[in-house]
Amino acid sequence: MSSESAAALGPSYLAQPHEVHRCVLLYSGGLDTSVMLKWIQDEYDAEVVALCIDLGQPEDDFEAIREKAISLGAVASLVVDAKDEFARDYVAPSIRANAKYQGGYPPFTALGRPLLAKIATEVAREHDADTIAHGCTGKGNDQVRIDATVATLAPDLKIIAPVREWQMGRDEEIAYAAEHGIPVASTAAKPYSIDDNLWGRSSEGGTIEDLAAPPPEDVFQLVTPPTRAPDEPADITIGFREGLPVSLDGEELPLVELIRRVAEIACRNGVGIVDHIEDRVVGLKVRDIYEVPAAEVILTAHRELEKLVCTGRENHAKPELDRLWAQLVYEGLWYEPLLADLNAFMAAVSERVEGEVGVRLYKGSATVTTRTSPRAIYDRSLATFDADASFSQNSSPGFIELFSLQSRMAYRVSEGRRGG
Ligand code: ARG
Repeated sequence: MSSESAAALGPSYLAQPHEVHRCVLLYSGGLDTSVMLKWIQDEYDAEVVALCIDLGQPEDDFEAIREKAISLGAVASLVVDAKDEFARDYVAPSIRANAKYQGGYPPFTALGRPLLAKIATEVAREHDADTIAHGCTGKGNDQVRIDATVATLAPDLKIIAPVREWQMGRDEEIAYAAEHGIPVASTAAKPYSIDDNLWGRSSEGGTIEDLAAPPPEDVFQLVTPPTRAPDEPADITIGFREGLPVSLDGEELPLVELIRRVAEIACRNGVGIVDHIEDRVVGLKVRDIYEVPAAEVILTAHRELEKLVCTGRENHAKPELDRLWAQLVYEGLWYEPLLADLNAFMAAVSERVEGEVGVRLYKGSATVTTRTSPRAIYDRSLATFDADASFSQNSSPGFIELFSLQSRMAYRVSEGRRGG
């Protein structure tokens, strides 16, 4: 094939209709992927294996989703519980990296997509499928994350993303569903585009797109609006080992359970609402409303503990690397070697990130109130204002003289030029 005709066909991983015999569809049970399940059978004359993955999205009824796929003609329908893997291999490193994209978004969707794509490639092998199908649009980040992961892990598999291709709008999809006997839940009329898992929930679209308006109240499905949160604060203590939360109020808990419990307390106290303007990989600027109760509390506590056990130099350098970590993950580059390099750095620092952090949750805020650590680089007898401390104050003037040397010289030079 000449390079021109290859280019005309687009990227090599996109499937041509005749190449698809059996595909694994990342299935959520919602309108898009339900229409897709039928559409692929009709348009591609292909078999569909439906795959729904549990990453801890709170409301989903997985058995109903599994059955719905079968009723729409899937040759197999699987639900995979990946909560523990998600927490251990995706959320945990993001905690060590204090991950917040552009300072506000703890990347839960961005963490989930590479795992969904990885599991899809595994299921494709087990079921002899040649193609992965997903419901991402051509405007978002999720297509980048899924396509990049599949193309990395299984370059021989093809990808189809019907929403990117079909020219159906929402009303046409609903009409298609009616025509093909696809049950449309009343949730199809939902005013926002939602994605959620264990680590957070996002809402986009609809009236959220009006940047001049405050977030519409009906967006919030997890976190109690701070104005309606209890008048009494809630105080909790999170214990960390190796940079990861391991206990809540002294009780050791597996990560998934700990995240759930922290989320519950934070939700009640109005903590974890983020109204975020962000830059998507494909260049669009959008507004997201996030509900990230557990992430807000755990990341706040984790950062605070790092500050206590790391040196000043580390505390200045790490946020730069944290920022880079979040950007790579946001951009879907989960298998980029630089990310593995950064993870090695995060793991090395995390060896010392051990201790307990008390956090007060009150009407939308999460404030650190106490910290204790066997690894603290803190000595009260050095820091104290009381007399007879062991810090040698007599050494300070000499230090300051050298420490300020260049700055003083530069000042003198520029004053001299001004004067002369
Ligand atoms: N803006 C967030 C991100 O890029 C959330 C995206 C939510 N995805 C969705 N398909 N609704 O990770």
